[in-house]
Amino acid sequence: MPGRTRDRLAEYADTWSSRSIRAWEEGWWEMPIAVGNLIGRIIGAGAGEVVMLPNVSIAQSIVNSCFEWNSKRNRIVTDALNFPTNLYLFHALERLGAEVCIVPSEDGMTVPLDRMLAAIDERTRLVSASHVIFKSAFVQDMATIAKRAHEMGALIVADLYQSAGAVPLNVREMDVDFATGGSVKWLCGGPGAGYLYVRRDLWPRLEPKMTGWIAHQRPFAFEAEEMDYAADAFRFLNGTPSIPALYAARSGYEIINEIGVERIREKSLRQTQRLMDLADEAGFKVNTPRKAEERGGTVTLDVPNGHEIVKELLRRDILVDFRPGAGIRVAPHFYTSDEELDVVIREIQGLLASSRVGA
Ligand SMILES: Cc1ncc(COP(=O)(O)O)c(C=O)c1O
Repeated sequence: MPGRTRDRLAEYADTWSSRSIRAWEEGWWEMPIAVGNLIGRIIGAGAGEVVMLPNVSIAQSIVNSCFEWNSKRNRIVTDALNFPTNLYLFHALERLGAEVCIVPSEDGMTVPLDRMLAAIDERTRLVSASHVIFKSAFVQDMATIAKRAHEMGALIVADLYQSAGAVPLNVREMDVDFATGGSVKWLCGGPGAGYLYVRRDLWPRLEPKMTGWIAHQRPFAFEAEEMDYAADAFRFLNGTPSIPALYAARSGYEIINEIGVERIREKSLRQTQRLMDLADEAGFKVNTPRKAEERGGTVTLDVPNGHEIVKELLRRDILVDFRPGAGIRVAPHFYTSDEELDVVIREIQGLLASSRVGA
């Protein structure tokens, strides 16, 4: 947690207690966009183009609800390494007529670009891919996938959860139509602060079925007739925003903007290389691409009893996590020292050698 976050949460409590309902007019109403602007600077979106939502599952549901799924163009093309929340949502759309095409991964780590491109055809409505894959940190070529999607008349949504804040990116250069993400990872923003970017020229044609009164052009008229969507990005919101989560999230985005993602990436590439070198020396299997341009900020170490080892590392205050079928994810960020990398490898070695984790 960034040091400033405690002050921001105190500010929230002070505002609530001193301003009460007046706080809505004095800033809270605009917060989903004002905070979204801080993310916009990190992902290359313009002012007013990113809205804050509680999480990716909701952001992706809003995107899905913009389309009809019982038409000829009813295909969703994605890959087997997409984050499960997205896959669950796509399979749920099968009940509404969608056809889900999942491109397999041959090695459990990467997705073959040629197969992804070949899967996108004139029946494809939506393409969904993670910029960086959560299990392996493999970087997908979003610009090439987006180009193919557009050639076929489809739209593309990028999940930036594992890249934003660690890998330089620009939604306009990638030419994606939608982007989603959250703040529990590299953005240091904590839970409850997901985001959605939608390409501005699409706004007039998109009317999400997953909606609410805040997305109305005149919310305070409380009209009981049909929905009249706001002309700006408010049209992608729904109900009352999670204001405390937005207070908590802001400092992380500010800090990432202050440091700059280019500098974060430079240090990250050096440290992930160092981790892989240390892992090689220790004889650990690495489930992360070796090429710098193909890997994000995480190194996944596939060692026996990974789950048990992670539990013990957490008990020792070494903060890593475990993903089944992939291994132990070690994710150095701008605040991680080289010594800490040595320690994590040494501790895993020690645990593997001892009987503590039943190796
Ligand atoms: C790629 C990706 N998408 C989505 C999520 C989380 O989804 P949600 O914000 O709905 O919890 C994660 C969490 O780690 C993720 O790695």
